[in-house]
Amino acid sequence: MKKKVKILSTGSYLPAKILTNFDLEKMVDTSDEWISTRTGIKERRIVEENVATSDIAAEAARVCLKKANLTADDVDTIIVATITPDMFFPSTACMVHKKLGGKNEPAAFDISAACSGFIYGLTLAEDLLISGKSKNLLLIAADTMSKFTNWKDRNTCVLFGDGAGAMLLTSTEDENEENSILSTCLGANGNYDELLYIPAGGSRMPASLETVQKNLHTVVMSGKEVFKVAVTKMVETALKACSLANISPQQLDLLIPHQANLRIINAVGERLGVDLSKVFINVHKYGNMSAATVIVGLDEAISQGKVKKGSILELVTFGGGFTWGAAIIKL
Ligand code: UT7
Repeated sequence: MKKKVKILSTGSYLPAKILTNFDLEKMVDTSDEWISTRTGIKERRIVEENVATSDIAAEAARVCLKKANLTADDVDTIIVATITPDMFFPSTACMVHKKLGGKNEPAAFDISAACSGFIYGLTLAEDLLISGKSKNLLLIAADTMSKFTNWKDRNTCVLFGDGAGAMLLTSTEDENEENSILSTCLGANGNYDELLYIPAGGSRMPASLETVQKNLHTVVMSGKEVFKVAVTKMVETALKACSLANISPQQLDLLIPHQANLRIINAVGERLGVDLSKVFINVHKYGNMSAATVIVGLDEAISQGKVKKGSILELVTFGGGFTWGAAIIKL
């Protein structure tokens, strides 16, 4: 019998420390009014200095395992989607394995697809589970963007926040469509690489005194250009995933778009013809948490009762690369 993928649980973790627009007014030449009207962001969460991505990733994973009544020993694969790993290697997934404890030795690796990392991970997870190479898989998306932000650059420092989300998935031969993935769809175009990137710290421009002095280890973005492509590609990929699942956007109970900017979110909802009451928004509380954004959104939508058993949702993302992706899920 053909295997299907079943979502066992979701979890998230947001750092306690809140950085408001008013705090930012004291750091750079900006205002709550500018940030609110241009982005919809009011505040974001920031990790403490001694906290790394694997710390918040492990917290989200623990919530997930607890909800599913499983332990780290039940998991045979850990995938972490991140662009802010603890270090180049070992992978953040290996760090999460260490933090979760247990005796087993699962496959553990990171994937890099910027803000689209969760959907890329979900697509990979689905194939590992359906092929039988994995039975219980922990997919985590976590980013500590605050560690790679130039806090003197008002163009970028007001946009990002830290957070982590996780999903526990298993394979089943049950025909029931509940808690399943109906479709996924991915895309990328590397020609846009320099519109949103971190120039230094890799093999192209290794860390040096000069790169540090020039702040080249932090995010550089051409906001206006990113905005335009983001809307076009999110709409395109959202429609593709709908068509693969044989549904129309109007049949969605909830659309959870990547939360980079409220104007992008609204434009995507409008172009898809999805009523804005069915478009999930938490950008005002957390800003852009990169890969973590859509899974934190999904976890919140479930815990806030915005979706229920049988609801059909779509997650759609866009990020550096450029990368994009969408997934239709039935709860
Ligand atoms: O997660 C990956 C995807 N990322 C995104 O999707 C981000 C996409 N881009 C955006 O969200 C928007 O382009 C931004 C929010 C980044 C910028 O909004 P915008 O409406 O495109 O503004 P702009 O870049 O055209 O800047 C308008 C003005 C500029 O001043 P001048 O040149 O017109 O005098 C900026 O210098 O606003 C100025 N500005 C600011 N002013 C106050 C830029 N940042 C700030 C700021 N506070 N923080």
